[in-house]
Amino acid sequence: MYLNKETIADIKQSTNIVDIIGEVVSLTKSGRNYLGLCPFHKEKTPSFNVLEDKQFYHCFGCGRSGDVFKFLEDYRQITFAESASVLAERLGMSLQVPSNQLAQVRQESPHQKLFEINQDAERFYQAVLKTTKIGELARQYLYSRGITDEVIEEFHIGLAPAEPDYLYQSLSKKFDETTVMNSGLFNLSERSNRFYDAFQNRIIFPLRDENGRVIGFSGRIWQESVSDDQQPQAKYKNTRATAIFNKSYELYHLDKAKAVMAKTHEVYLMEGFMDVIAAHRAGIDNAVASMGTALTPEHVNHLKKFTKKVIVTYDGDKAGQNAIAKSLELLGDFTVDIVRLPEQMDPDEYLQKNSPEELEKLLRQSRISQVEFLMHYLLPENSDNLQAEIDYVDRMAALIVQTPSITAQNSYITKVADLLPDFDYFQVEQAVNNQRLLVRGQMSQAANQTQAAQTVMVELPVSKQVSALRRAENQLFHRMLNHAYVFNDYRMRSDFHFETAELQTLFELLNQEGELDSFILSGLDNDVQSAYYAVLEERLPEEVTDGELQELDRQISRLLAQQEIRKQGKRVRETTSLGDQDGALLALEALIAQKRNLE
Ligand code: CTP
Ligand code: MN
Repeated sequence: MYLNKETIADIKQSTNIVDIIGEVVSLTKSGRNYLGLCPFHKEKTPSFNVLEDKQFYHCFGCGRSGDVFKFLEDYRQITFAESASVLAERLGMSLQVPSNQLAQVRQESPHQKLFEINQDAERFYQAVLKTTKIGELARQYLYSRGITDEVIEEFHIGLAPAEPDYLYQSLSKKFDETTVMNSGLFNLSERSNRFYDAFQNRIIFPLRDENGRVIGFSGRIWQESVSDDQQPQAKYKNTRATAIFNKSYELYHLDKAKAVMAKTHEVYLMEGFMDVIAAHRAGIDNAVASMGTALTPEHVNHLKKFTKKVIVTYDGDKAGQNAIAKSLELLGDFTVDIVRLPEQMDPDEYLQKNSPEELEKLLRQSRISQVEFLMHYLLPENSDNLQAEIDYVDRMAALIVQTPSITAQNSYITKVADLLPDFDYFQVEQAVNNQRLLVRGQMSQAANQTQAAQTVMVELPVSKQVSALRRAENQLFHRMLNHAYVFNDYRMRSDFHFETAELQTLFELLNQEGELDSFILSGLDNDVQSAYYAVLEERLPEEVTDGELQELDRQISRLLAQQEIRKQGKRVRETTSLGDQDGALLALEALIAQKRNLE
């Protein structure tokens, strides 16, 4: 079968968009539609709609919409032809797709040799741990830390022998000198012009890329340093940067964690290898660690490929808390929770003192929100400093208003008030109310940059920003689309038009064409298409109720009048600040007249 108009129609006919999207987004039936969390933007409350009868999806938050082909294109980042062949295959149809419409097949990596030498080194280190005398001692050390043979296997843990060049002896015959030099596994001594093993007498943790290929190692000291004339050694040592290992990008255990993330949609971000291993021992495998560097923007972008929710699980000490605060700044596009670890412990230490079940419980249940974390983290230490407390309350208020749930907002207000001896609930609530007004002000006056800078951490869902006017007009147009008599009424009124440009376009089109079908829609701007879907999505009772349309009319004209007043008010302020007395007076008169009209 070939890719053409008919087969596309066939595929669409035999496929249910709800099934396809349902495989990757958890959907709940809501009325005639299905609702879920949008896979294309970050959100906490679902605004992603799948309309089964119309076979399309629409997100109120980010405005994306389309049919089943479009969904696969965007979700999997594939071409239209590819999405068609994916769907055809599901239906047991085999579809011939011209090869120029398929993405390039993955080529063999130019760094193939580097991957191979790392793979061989991993096997070498594992063999040393398993079969040598010193390996026996190292295993005793690992056992003493709760690391069983099962865990050693799972994480491919090995041992670098306490010799200068065992690994070099073993691998240099098989690999060319460039590969040896560029692998990061050996250091060239300038004095003797010889290669030495980069890791000597260290427990070896292999580091893998997201596809599970070994790209480097980290080695931990495990015995007291033998020769005491040496510098004190770093606890962990990593492979230096190579063509295949960039520690600012790679995350430990991502190769295994990503499969779990696909199901749980969240990842635990930890500090160390041993913490990730502790999580595994507690049955939690969606945990990763940055490797000896603080979290970087590259790490964050890397994670974005897999999930939108991060549970920061850093050590319970002061350094860990500072690291959490720093990571929150980078994780602005994610939903973030924080696991609070007791008494300065890391997850591994917690597991030394508690059972795996207790660690599991801690990781799954002792989570606090970003706001709650910052509430404690930012709390001024000195309770005599009133100004510091006021600043703190304002900062918290700015965070609290960004919480979608009002119930949660209220409980945060209570908590902040409880933390401060000089403030009661109502004072904190007042600060939050001020912020609410500010946020509303920002919506109508987008230009308030100084405030915007303070609220970058979390942004309001776009759906909340739909103005009351837009809302009323949406409802009106919804009625027009579903009840021909309503449409007829309005199109006869010569004075009627929609204030919202997209709706006016649709209104005029409907007038011309008699109906709006997918063919007509597909030719329109994205904004207009989204506006159409948003209108369809308005939730109204089936039947038009008595007085509903009159009420909508009244609402719309009142909102228009208020808009006019805001404009006038702005004019008054502008003209006064320019010193234009006459202009100001005129504007003021107009304003007063407007207000009278409203009453
Ligand atoms: N790290 C490093 N170099 C060091 C110390 C730490 O690269 N000299 C990195 C390692 O990736 C380590 C992580 O930072 O896993 C966290 O360090 P730390 O908390 O000191 O180690 P733990 O994870 O507690 O390791 P262990 O339990 O083995 O002491
Ligand atoms: Mn530790």
